[in-house]
Amino acid sequence: MAPALPRLLVTRRLPQEVETRLAKSYWTQLNADDHPMSEAELLQGAGDKDALLITPMDKSFATGIIARLPSSIKIIATFSVGYEHVDIAAARQKNITVTNTPNVLTNATADIALLLILGAARGAYWGERMVREDRWNSWSPTEPLGLDVTGRRLGILGMGRIGQAVAKRARAFDMELHYHNRRPVAAELAHGARYHADLDKMLPYCDFLSINCASTPETRGLVNGTLIDKLPKGAIIVNTSRGDIVDDDALVSALKSGRVAAAGLDVFRNEPKIDPRYRALDNVFLLPHLGSATRDTRIAMGMRAADNLDAFFAGRKPADTLT
Ligand code: DGY
Repeated sequence: MAPALPRLLVTRRLPQEVETRLAKSYWTQLNADDHPMSEAELLQGAGDKDALLITPMDKSFATGIIARLPSSIKIIATFSVGYEHVDIAAARQKNITVTNTPNVLTNATADIALLLILGAARGAYWGERMVREDRWNSWSPTEPLGLDVTGRRLGILGMGRIGQAVAKRARAFDMELHYHNRRPVAAELAHGARYHADLDKMLPYCDFLSINCASTPETRGLVNGTLIDKLPKGAIIVNTSRGDIVDDDALVSALKSGRVAAAGLDVFRNEPKIDPRYRALDNVFLLPHLGSATRDTRIAMGMRAADNLDAFFAGRKPADTLT
């Protein structure tokens, strides 16, 4: 008799190619209507499973659910590079392996960072709205006007894979590059960016600040009023990492006063329930967490999660083990 397939709960709809692959190697419980699962539903679904494939929206994995998972659960594969939504220490304690999906979303996310830089600097939001609402009366030499990107200084906060890909793209716009990271990266990965061991020393160089660090206890709330005050007046802030790195009160008030000229935000604290004050501001370019949202990238993320699950159930250590 063939050995029983491992039992897998997939908490959200995944691209068809990924679900088809998973169904060949696992007894899968899929989420056909793609609704966000409540904690009770997650626990019930996990009840008869060996593995979970979750997403960053399954936030209860950071807030106590892991301790209540049945002992049959051996691995949690998150469909994301970020893993702040998983309590890694709790998983370790229960001997549960946790994996993520690095590399495959680097380019797509860096593309969105550049879209935000351009969208915020050139007023893509108000420009688009003006055309859509039929308020565009005449081309004018003096209004509305955005800000140049070419030749301006970009500070990259967090020079991991995505930060490096942002640097590579920003070079094509002749931006002067700076970065802050815990450690300097190899010269060929820095794309000419100057390293600042001390974040405070980089801030005065940031006409643009791109947030590319992970959300950790050290970075949560890092972009606050004190940090913003060290940026040049009229700087632009873009965020493709996690919303909780930004102090929304500080950013909203800096956007209102003009201390920060514009912002481009793809991620938000408590998304999708974002701070409503952003909606009322004309100088923010807002996207609904589209960083990795291309078809190819989402398939690659799913395949990477499946590779990790397959390795685990074949008795090998998954390539992207975090525990
Ligand atoms: C991730 O993988 O962490 C992204 O935020 C999803 O786009």
